[in-house]
Amino acid sequence: MIDEKILLSLKYWFTEYVKGFYSENADFQQNIDMKVEHTRRVCREIIDIGKSLSLSQKELFLAEAIALLHDVGRFEQYAHYQTFVDYYSEDHAELGVKIIKSNGVLINSDEPTRDLILRTILYHNRAELPKDETERCLFFSKLLRDADKLDILRVVTNYYQENNGKRNEAIELNLPDLPGISDNIYADLLAERIAKAKDLKTLNDFKLFQMGWIYDVNFTRTFQLIRERHYLEKIRNALPKTERVLKVYSKIKTFLEQGCQEIY
Ligand SMILES: [Fe+2]
Repeated sequence: MIDEKILLSLKYWFTEYVKGFYSENADFQQNIDMKVEHTRRVCREIIDIGKSLSLSQKELFLAEAIALLHDVGRFEQYAHYQTFVDYYSEDHAELGVKIIKSNGVLINSDEPTRDLILRTILYHNRAELPKDETERCLFFSKLLRDADKLDILRVVTNYYQENNGKRNEAIELNLPDLPGISDNIYADLLAERIAKAKDLKTLNDFKLFQMGWIYDVNFTRTFQLIRERHYLEKIRNALPKTERVLKVYSKIKTFLEQGCQEIY
């Protein structure tokens, strides 16, 4: 169980841990700040979604603890490799689990809770959730994945709107900014499937790939927040208005509208 006191101590640990990565290099510090801010917002999103599902206060504390710790591996990853791209460095979820264990962060929680938190973190960036997990673990994994996606959509849409052509190599895959959408990406998204990272060839592919995360959204509240914040439109506006882009947008938009109507 995670109670208010344990959650507070986890927040204190997180704040102190992150201070160890502060730097006088402005770009470096900006990337650290970005992940701290992301963590704070994922905590808020997970509580919002959790409340929409009428979770108990006890479960909301647990959900918040999961959100607080989910990206703890990002700091070490950036310090070591200067990138947030797992493909160029290492799996930040696995790294996070190692850090939580070696720092004894969850020492005050009972074993089942500790285990649940670690597994949820481990699964949060996987293409698919494992089939052989408990209902409870899958539920909290879905909560985290929705909260995380919501905030990544905020980060990327801000980035596309405000970067004025300046690219941040830490959050991009260094894909060339060429016109056109690759065939496999297009086919998957039209078939309401999550596109595959290995098929990404251009920055436009990457933007559409992010739009397609909607196919992996689990909760009605998440769909509603995506709609309220116009994330799909913001990504579409950062893309050329080609036939392929408009077709994919319209398909995904319909999927979003349906998701908003579902009753949970
Ligand atoms: Fe995250």
